[in-house]
Amino acid sequence: MQAETILKPLFLPALALALLAACQRTPASETFVVAPPPSSAERGETLARSVCAGCHAIDRTGTSPNPNAPPFAAVVNREGVTAETLSAFLADAHNYPREMDFSVHESAVDDLVAWMLTLKDPGYRPQG
Ligand code: HEC
Repeated sequence: MQAETILKPLFLPALALALLAACQRTPASETFVVAPPPSSAERGETLARSVCAGCHAIDRTGTSPNPNAPPFAAVVNREGVTAETLSAFLADAHNYPREMDFSVHESAVDDLVAWMLTLKDPGYRPQG
């Protein structure tokens, strides 16, 4: 029973401190939440910008820095191009043209494809 008398006086101040800390933590941590975690398409955009954009136009509009590399918008708006055909292409580096001297890790394929599919647009017209 002695333990109880020792613990009780400690417990209340400790509880008060814990509650105080909890109240302070909430607004403090919220100031660090600047954006939700990136979606698959957003991760794909970041990747495309760093890895693919040297050759391909990776946005809705624009011409490719490498004239032999089709703009991503032109690729995805071609008839018959789907998530499946793009994934199959990117998942197997043996499909790649000679210029694409790399392979894409399987965990990045879905993200790249998700980004590319955001460029699908029924009103797409190839840029001259
Ligand atoms: C060094 C230049 C270069 C880089 C970097 C590059 N590509 Fe390419 N890519 C090309 C060229 C050139 C072609 C077209 C080759 C052809 O048609 O013979 C091509 C073709 C493609 C195609 C096929 C398009 C079609 O006509 O069906 C896809 C899809 C593609 N690239 C995706 C990517 C992705 C995704 C990345 C980044 C992870 C990337 N490329 C990075 C040069 C590049």
